[in-house]
Amino acid sequence: MKQRWFAAVLAATVLSPAFADVKAIVAYRQGTMKSFGGHAAALKAIFADGQKQFLPDALAHGEAIAGLAKSIPDMFPPGSEYRKSAAKKQIWQNWDDFVARAQNLERLAAGFVQAVKEGDEAAMKAAFQRMGQEGCSSCHDKYRKD
Ligand code: HEC
Repeated sequence: MKQRWFAAVLAATVLSPAFADVKAIVAYRQGTMKSFGGHAAALKAIFADGQKQFLPDALAHGEAIAGLAKSIPDMFPPGSEYRKSAAKKQIWQNWDDFVARAQNLERLAAGFVQAVKEGDEAAMKAAFQRMGQEGCSSCHDKYRKD
């Protein structure tokens, strides 16, 4: 009995990151998510609020999101739950679905980058809106606490 308890504690210790690491991991993922929010707000100013003088920056904003989206699954290792985190438990219960949503953002962000490179403004705007709704919000609606 005692041995089994010890094995369980050992397994938990080995499998979940130490508390200091959890705090740092959550800081990294929230920082990266905030950067997504910053890029998305800048793109909204360009495409929805008429700030066309910044159109040449659209590529850099899109590439930042596309480049970082592939790291989303690594930002949510099992056990990285923390009271200051808005990540729901369901992430780890539905891991494959969560990863699929992260990959979907990666794909949509790449699509936005492609549209920017092709230079058609209406297509860029449509790709940006699609990325926000199907990429960002579809994951938040299910896996982020309000
Ligand atoms: C696969 C799921 C997923 C995708 C895709 C995703 N997010 Fe998030 N996002 C989360 C989760 C979960 C949290 C809560 C993280 C935490 O608090 O530990 C979060 C948090 C955030 C936050 C709050 C950060 C803070 O702590 O202040 C912002 C802003 C954000 N996301 C923006 C975005 C934007 C913009 C996109 C799309 C470009 C995006 N996210 C794509 C899951 C996702």
